Amino acid sequence: MCGIVGYIGSKNAQEPILEGLTKLEYRGYDSAGISVINHQQLRTVKKVGKLNFLKNSLQQSPLEGKIGIGHTRWATHGIPSDVNSHPHLNNKGTISVVHNGIIENFLPLKEFLIKKGYEFLSDTDSEVIANLIDYYYEDSIESAVKNAVRDLEGAYALAVITTEEPDTLIGVRHESPLVIGLLDDGFMPASDIPALLAYTEKVKYLENGDIVVMTKNSIDIYDSENKKVERETKKIEWDLESASKEGFDHFMIKEIYEQPKVIKDAIRRKCVDGVLNLGDNTFSKEEWNSFESIYITACGTAFHAGEVGKIAIETWAKKQVQTEIASELKYYQPFIDEKTLLIVVSQSGETGDTLAAMREAKKKGAKVLAITNVVGSSIAREADKVLYCYAGPEISVASTKAYTTQLIALYALALDMAKKLGAMDEEKVQNWIAKMNNLSSTVEELLDSQGERYKKLADHIKDSKSIFFLGRGIDYLSAKEGALKLKEISYINSVAFPSGELKHGSIALIEDGTPVINIITQSNLVDKAISNIKEVKARGAFTVAIGDNNNDGIKEVSDVVIPIPLVDDILAPVISVLPQQLLAYETSVAIGNDVDKPRNLAKAVTVE
Ligand code: AGP
Repeated sequence: MCGIVGYIGSKNAQEPILEGLTKLEYRGYDSAGISVINHQQLRTVKKVGKLNFLKNSLQQSPLEGKIGIGHTRWATHGIPSDVNSHPHLNNKGTISVVHNGIIENFLPLKEFLIKKGYEFLSDTDSEVIANLIDYYYEDSIESAVKNAVRDLEGAYALAVITTEEPDTLIGVRHESPLVIGLLDDGFMPASDIPALLAYTEKVKYLENGDIVVMTKNSIDIYDSENKKVERETKKIEWDLESASKEGFDHFMIKEIYEQPKVIKDAIRRKCVDGVLNLGDNTFSKEEWNSFESIYITACGTAFHAGEVGKIAIETWAKKQVQTEIASELKYYQPFIDEKTLLIVVSQSGETGDTLAAMREAKKKGAKVLAITNVVGSSIAREADKVLYCYAGPEISVASTKAYTTQLIALYALALDMAKKLGAMDEEKVQNWIAKMNNLSSTVEELLDSQGERYKKLADHIKDSKSIFFLGRGIDYLSAKEGALKLKEISYINSVAFPSGELKHGSIALIEDGTPVINIITQSNLVDKAISNIKEVKARGAFTVAIGDNNNDGIKEVSDVVIPIPLVDDILAPVISVLPQQLLAYETSVAIGNDVDKPRNLAKAVTVE
């Protein structure tokens, strides 16, 4: 996600800002920029690409001035480009803003400002903020910012400077984090601790709604009711390495725990005022009706998400869907033609197999809708339509938050299709959106209630020769994701089977103590699942059930039950994947593997 660093003090602002941004590079970004004010002159330099491009362009003419703001951008609105990079200025060039987050209502605000005579250079939601502050500016940047943020809906952390008041730096925190570093000679607002570690160990964490007004000698913080408040000064205990993981031991576990937030963001970004609205990121009713075949293709985890998407589209939109592994689809597409829709799922948007399959299908006239996490990626650029996951950068090779936000995107697409094809009315669609909105808190409760259970289970299974994952229906699809998660970071041979299929051969592999993980969420299949567990238990398996802890039948046949909250069957994979992610993580840690960079694997497999 984006990174913000500001500086106000008695030294030159450029150096601490650039160094701070460097320490935020781990967050992933595609462009960077900086604004500095000197003698009421605002200079701004911003570049698409890596931070070094920005640093190089500043070498010839460094920015002088003791107040400034900087930004690394993770594109969500508008492709990576110089003009879409931050900071963004008002039309007069007197106000500079950097933003981390999502302004949900930026379009109506932009239309309002255009009617007031403002012009816009970029495709971003953030540029609206600069002109909105200008709109409210009379003689106080503090008042103008307070008035402007009252109009904003969504998540935003801001840093704002103006030539009109060159001794004042404003910070705002609303759902996107912002911390204030306390210097001997001033202050540094930043998105995250790593940016500050080289300059201070004293920080103030802002709370939602806080607006902070800084000069080099003073700091005033106002809460969402505009009451002046104190925020405790805390001492940073982290070193840089642990700080970039926000105190987590690995990026994977950090990203697992980011899922409540990114699931909420993913849904929020597919709605306008809470109503499903994919805008021009999806097809019209006529276009949906024109498709005679629908395929979903992807690799690895993305493919597992795509298979759940198939169930959602077939159940809600009543349209048949074929799922194909991308590396297979590239060489066998007998029925793909100009009446085909190909849905492509890819976290990185750069996977070679997926890109190749997509290009082959396009040669045959197929339309392509991409679901990806990276704005401006190859797959995003070559698709006809793109739905983004808004999971923020996924650093760990093992995909976790990308999977759950891919599911959200696929559910939203299926509902969009269902509505436009008349398979579901608006009220039913919104009921499903409401249920999806509850997932975020359900996920949070589950993650916060796990204790040591996974460490204990990991110790029990970490020396296994092989581990089986069983599930029926959509639970089998979840089991496939669980098996992949475990195998790729523990290196244990983990395989998923449809529960009913085991007795047709693979049950011969069950030995005394073989761990068998059973996913049981489908209300109509619980009894069948219990009988499958009995089959393997009778042959000595160590049985683990991920399901309803109040079901006596499940408890009787399971050595361990991992309780999960029950949600509607079709949404269950968002929940049932979490214990599997956590078990894979703890098992890898127990074995001592490199969790975030497992052997032989890359985060994006760009070769075919
Ligand atoms: C998932 O944990 C793996 N890292 C891998 O299977 C991955 O999902 C696959 O390579 C597809 O990557 P993509 O989503 O970036 O296309």
